[in-house]
Amino acid sequence: MAKIKKINHVAIAVEDIDEALQFWRDALGLPLDHIEDVPSQKSMVAFLPAGDGEIELVKPTAEGTGVAKFLAKNGPGMHHLCFEVDDIEEMLASLKEKDVRLINEAPLVLEGRKMAFVHPKSAGGVLVELYELD
Ligand code: CO
Repeated sequence: MAKIKKINHVAIAVEDIDEALQFWRDALGLPLDHIEDVPSQKSMVAFLPAGDGEIELVKPTAEGTGVAKFLAKNGPGMHHLCFEVDDIEEMLASLKEKDVRLINEAPLVLEGRKMAFVHPKSAGGVLVELYELD
């Protein structure tokens, strides 16, 4: 049976990374590890480690992405929660068996990790991301 290892990150949709850093880094005191252009997700992402996990501030760099649509509809706010699992294929199979709706039926394979999203309709309104790191 697949297991959750930890919360890998919580992603916050932002319109302006510098403005968001005024709270997350300057007021709250989280360290800013780095800011990265992530072309595969058409976004700029600021990574702020928080203990064993991370806060990711995600700013879309193109229209039409999930985060861009989320921002247009809701404004800035929490976008998704990511759990690290030990076996993502097994976790997805187990969720499917329990009639949980998945956005990605099979994991997307990226450098260093596999990932998939669970549909918020099956997760109490929360968009849940799953990672299996190499
Ligand atoms: Co994420």
